[in-house]
Amino acid sequence: MPTCNLLLSGAIHFSGCLATQTLRMMTLFGLQCISASTFFRHQRRYTIPVIIQAWQNEQAKNFSDLKAMDGGLVVAGDCR
Ligand SMILES: *[C@@H]1O[C@H](CO)[C@@H](O)[C@H](O)[C@H]1NC(C)=O
Repeated sequence: MPTCNLLLSGAIHFSGCLATQTLRMMTLFGLQCISASTFFRHQRRYTIPVIIQAWQNEQAKNFSDLKAMDGGLVVAGDCR
């Protein structure tokens, strides 16, 4: 896979832009770019798993930071 194809999919996904509109705009500019189906395949196989992995890593770091806090952490709620 050409690197720029995956970078383009990541840039579209991580910027929050709508993929079909962004790709249509690039095509109207006369730029060669990936198809929408390629973007969605990249999203399914790469960008979404990367987001989930990054979130899990950050969550694990947050939990370990909280566990290491002096005196620990007490979490309570009233069902709201
Ligand atoms: C981790 O903690 C920071 C605040 O220190 C918070 O902004 C962030 O949302 C937390 N991340 C997760 C995945 O809970």
